[in-house]
Amino acid sequence: MKPYQYDVVILGAGAAGLTLALRLPKHIRVAVLSKASLTESATLYAQGGISVVLDKNDSVNAHINDTLSAGAGLCDPDTVRYVVENAKRSIEWLIESGVAFTRSADNKDEYHLTKEGGHSHRRIIHSADATGHAVETTLAEQVRNAANIDIFDDHIAIDLIKQDERCVGAYVLNKSSNHIDVFSSKATVLATGGAGKAYLYTSNPDVSTGDGIAMAWRAGCRIGNMEFIQFHPTCLYHPDAKSFLMTEALRGEGAKLRLPDKNAKEGKAFLHKFDPRGELAPRDIVARAIDYEIKRLGLDYVYLDISHRDADFIIEHFPTVYERCKQLGFDLTKQAVPVVPAAHYLCGGVVAGIDGRTDLTGLYAIGETACTGLHGANRMASNSLLECLVMADAAAKNIARLVDKTNYPDKLEPWDASRVTPSLETVEISHNWDELRRVMSDYVGIVRSNKRLKLARKRIDNLKQEINEFYSHHDVSNDLLELRNLVTVADLIVRSAMRRRESRGLHYTLDYPGMSDVASNTYLSLADDQSDQS
Ligand code: FAD
Ligand code: SIN
Repeated sequence: MKPYQYDVVILGAGAAGLTLALRLPKHIRVAVLSKASLTESATLYAQGGISVVLDKNDSVNAHINDTLSAGAGLCDPDTVRYVVENAKRSIEWLIESGVAFTRSADNKDEYHLTKEGGHSHRRIIHSADATGHAVETTLAEQVRNAANIDIFDDHIAIDLIKQDERCVGAYVLNKSSNHIDVFSSKATVLATGGAGKAYLYTSNPDVSTGDGIAMAWRAGCRIGNMEFIQFHPTCLYHPDAKSFLMTEALRGEGAKLRLPDKNAKEGKAFLHKFDPRGELAPRDIVARAIDYEIKRLGLDYVYLDISHRDADFIIEHFPTVYERCKQLGFDLTKQAVPVVPAAHYLCGGVVAGIDGRTDLTGLYAIGETACTGLHGANRMASNSLLECLVMADAAAKNIARLVDKTNYPDKLEPWDASRVTPSLETVEISHNWDELRRVMSDYVGIVRSNKRLKLARKRIDNLKQEINEFYSHHDVSNDLLELRNLVTVADLIVRSAMRRRESRGLHYTLDYPGMSDVASNTYLSLADDQSDQS
């Protein structure tokens, strides 16, 4: 079968992938791939909003300083400035594209801005509490109508194809036909999102399995700062909730975290003991405080309480959260709800410039998959969607130049179909998957130690060996591909965590509780593999 040939192949259809597709000049032929339905992505579930300086009392410098402060010495100041300075332009583009943001109740000519942890001002533009849904569905509609863009949903990329030290496309499993297609391109873009599924409890959707990071690793790119996993402090604690997020904007509008009490409403607020900013301290501090109290008191959860606010206000500003809580038996307007921290965001990823360029010519990484230096050791709330938008725009400009001066690659190697054994049984995959996620949650969570990391490393090494054996002998399936990528990502997280002999931002270890004077990034590459194994 002939390979598909496109100027640009974009792997991923969240905010980053869709924005890039739409920002590329219309003469460029683009393929957008997503491994589930077109819109299924972390973007679709984003709640709080997007940070942007719109308030007259706010300033670009204040946004920059807040981002640098949350990032605990590891942000790249030029990247931070670029993203923050381009925020307003990106939001204007979204508005022109049709995204309906919530207006201010006092002045309908202005947008309502909410507040989240680490931000010194009201700075979060939002569509009620379903900002991601508004962004994703609006952009997806535009992509569907674009003549130069072809959509391949239910297509999961397996690996990148290299020719003469250049990325020239990808092998892709068409999940409907079970056939492996070859996509040939002048530029290939990883917009594959994060890797929350490496943990048992995560706010992320099932598609967040770190595929792009694992593919880039196998292709020889540097992977940076993987130890910085952000745990969102408040996910709903309920067996049927599947880590449903209780947006930080609730705390921005006055919600308190309380320790359980017979009468939950009277439960004691406790965050002021940990940080003078209380509920609006950055996420690493809030999540660690909750983790500490849960362990100290032997609790299953703490409470989040906004019931002191007016019921109409709660329902108008948080309709999605209110409805979901109601379905599960909690009335947000009358009672506190049980919450726990859960893995939420990956600050690390494929080392890339702000225009998405990676170590490999022809390969770009944008959005959560990338590690650009915007977030440093801890991402500030609502800076992530912003990064997707600004990076995609910068990448579009760079890619347009590359495409115009690059020829299509030579004939590509066909997929090696020598595997003869049918797909694995589900139980073999699910067993390894469960074990991996449990190991990561138990040993590589909010609070780490040398001992726990060593235990994790040992188990992950075993799993890696077994999964690689499965992969080399069996037909590929969606689940096997994701498992293979997850074990790679888990391995990179543990190895990066072991290298960092200090506590900084999201990485906290009992063995090195202080922050060292010198701030450095953790970059891993295949070349390090050998030395790390010893
Ligand atoms: P995603 O939106 O995750 O998209 C990834 C895409 O890649 C999907 O289309 C997927 O199918 C595709 N894909 C993955 N692997 C493959 C493969 N192998 N082959 C083909 N396709 C593949 N951030 C904010 O700034 N503000 C918020 O309010 C906010 N709220 C959040 C709430 C929740 C519940 C979650 C989970 C995250 C939230 N975040 C928020 C973080 C933010 O949503 C994400 O960081 C951002 O949406 C990532 O966008 P992305 O385009 O990089 O990836
Ligand atoms: C939230 O709404 O709490 C999530 C915001 C974010 O992750 O940036």
